[in-house]
Parts: sequence; structure tokens; C-alpha cells
Amino acid sequence: MKAAYYARFGGAELLNVGELPEPPLAAGDVLIRVRAAGVNRLDWKIRQGAFKSTLPYAFPIIPGWDAAGEVAAVGEGVTGLSKGMRVMACTRQPVVQWGACAEYVAVPASSVAQTPQSLDDPQAAALPVAGLTAWQALVEFARVEAGQTVLVHGAAGGVGSLAVGIARQRGATVIGTASPDQADYVRALGADAVLDDAAPDLAAAILARAADGVDVVLDTVGGETLVLSYGVVKPGGTLVSLVEQPDLDQCAHKDLSARQLLVRPDGGQLAEVAALVASGAVPLPEIQTLPLERIAEAHRLSEAGQVRGKLVLTIS
Ligand SMILES: NC(=O)c1ccc[n+]([C@@H]2O[C@H](COP(=O)([O-])OP(=O)(O)OC[C@H]3O[C@@H](n4cnc5c(N)ncnc54)[C@H](OP(=O)(O)O)[C@@H]3O)[C@@H](O)[C@H]2O)c1
Repeated sequence: MKAAYYARFGGAELLNVGELPEPPLAAGDVLIRVRAAGVNRLDWKIRQGAFKSTLPYAFPIIPGWDAAGEVAAVGEGVTGLSKGMRVMACTRQPVVQWGACAEYVAVPASSVAQTPQSLDDPQAAALPVAGLTAWQALVEFARVEAGQTVLVHGAAGGVGSLAVGIARQRGATVIGTASPDQADYVRALGADAVLDDAAPDLAAAILARAADGVDVVLDTVGGETLVLSYGVVKPGGTLVSLVEQPDLDQCAHKDLSARQLLVRPDGGQLAEVAALVASGAVPLPEIQTLPLERIAEAHRLSEAGQVRGKLVLTIS
């Protein structure tokens, strides 16, 4: 099959597009003919070796954790999914090896959701990692509800775009942080306020909109952004970071529920996110597509922070 892959950790120049064997199809797995594969910051962080001590891996690695296409075959014991059905999945597996940037990927049936009719494959491929991350942070962990104020850092990114829409759909007031040229985009996603993420008085600007502090913070940036977040979340509030373990002393001091989250596949949750997007209740992020052959360029764009919404590779 055609696949993008790399045989050692390093820069984008190590990405090849060539022929590899199809992935093995185990009992309980679904083989997906991938038509579109989303690009995530995680993809190039993994390619650089950032997770080599925490995520088991085997070379050659096919990158990509977001797949959309149709069922090509099902393994023994799979029910409810059959050849030809349009599906989408977060393809994260216990070993980093067989990713979504290939003609075929095999994933457990429990990771798979049917693609709503109104979404095309690139749109569906924009949702698994970003949508599940936002859902697991805001719905599963923070249990965001109407009347709360949610602060989303990195609101113009893939996770941020969907987090703004999901928080808004649950009835929360949403404050997003982004660079100023993204403000109109983030407002169109449903944010009530968009603040310049580089402004020196960012904390004061947040507290001007939520005097007692916000109920929930989703930190997609880490570092100084996480440090600032301790000061703007209300006592007893919730803080989720996607990039760093929150400081236990800071959290204990304010009695926060806090955690670092690592997204996990969940076909049921993915179906819920996809249904909200398909119905228009949660806006679809802006999507830019490139053919698989341009994967190195796609990784470089993501590394440079030059992507608004989602970047998706198409696989013909
Ligand atoms: N733990 C997990 O399971 C998990 C899952 C998904 C993502 N993540 C992590 O969450 C973060 C966001 O992912 P994503 O896919 O949404 O990324 P993305 O689409 O590239 O978006 C990141 C956004 O953050 C903003 N940003 C502000 N300061 C930044 C900085 N110092 N470095 C990078 N971006 C900055 C940028 O917006 P402006 O241009 O407006 O500043 C950018 O749009 C990444 O670090 C990713 O690795 C973790």
C-alpha cells in the first residue's frame, strides 16, 4: 500500500512516501481504506522523538492518528460495521507504528464511528484527535455546564476550535485566547470574547470578564500560559492541560480539579462529536487540505504554527 513513513526519529526531511505492506488485521479490528488523514501537532512531536520514552514504538512508523474513509474489511468478531461503510477513527494504538497516513489502517472496532452523511472525508478526518481531546477535557473531565465560564487557550488551533464550539454548545460563556489575526475566526466559532494571547495584561483582561475567575481552563500551550492559568481559575475550578502536568501545590492551594490529558480513542464519543458538528451545533474548524505526497510540508506548517483550524492530507 502507499504510505508515508519514517525509519528513525528526526526532522520532516525523514518523511518518505512509498510502498509498505498492509497492516495486520487482528480479531476485533476494522481495516479502513483511508481517504483523508488529519495532521496534529502530536504527529511531528512523535516524529521528533519527544514521546520515545513514554509511548512504545516500532519502525518504520506511519504517522497520523486521524483517519476517515470506508471499511475495507472487518476482523473476526466485529459486529455492526461492514465493508463499504463510511467511517472515521482516532487510530492511536498501544504501539506507535501503523498510523493513518496510508491507504489502509487497522484499528479496534471500539475506536471507530460511522461518518455522518453530511460530512465529507476531509471534514471527518479533522475531528478524531481534536474532537476527542476537547470532549474528554471539557465534557468527560470538567463536566462543563450552562452558566459556567470556560477559558480556551490556543482557541484558533485544531483542539481549540472544537473546544470553543463544544463549550458554547453546552451553554457556557467562552473566552478564547489567540493571536489578534485569529480573533474574527474564533468569534465565529462561538467565543464570547477573544483575547490576544501575547498581551502583557492577559490575566487582567480575563479577570475583567470573569471577576471571580473562570470555572474551567483548557490549556493547549503550557509554560507561561499554564502559570497564568492558576491565577485566573476560580477556587474549586477545573484546569486541564494537554501539554504539561499541572503543579500540585498550585492546584491544592486553590482546591482545583486538575490533570494533564492524553487523548484516547473512543468511537462512541467520536460519534457524539461528529453528530454535533454534522447538525451545525458545533462549528466545523477551518480545513486546509494537501495530498499525502506533501506530508513533509504539512508537518512543517504545523510546526511553524501556521495552521488555523485543521490541516488534512488526502489519500487518492
Ligand atoms: N495530550 C493530548 O492528548 C493532546 C491531544 C491533542 C493535542 N495536544 C497538544 O495540544 C496542543 C494544541 O494542539 P492542536 O492540534 O490544537 O495544535 P494547533 O492546531 O497547531 O494549534 C495550536 C494553537 O495554539 C496557539 N499557540 C499559542 N501559543 C503557542 C505556542 N507557544 N506554541 C504553539 N501554539 C501556540 C496557536 O494559535 P495562535 O496563532 O492564535 O497563537 C495555534 O493555533 C499541542 O501542543 C498538541 O501537542 C495534546
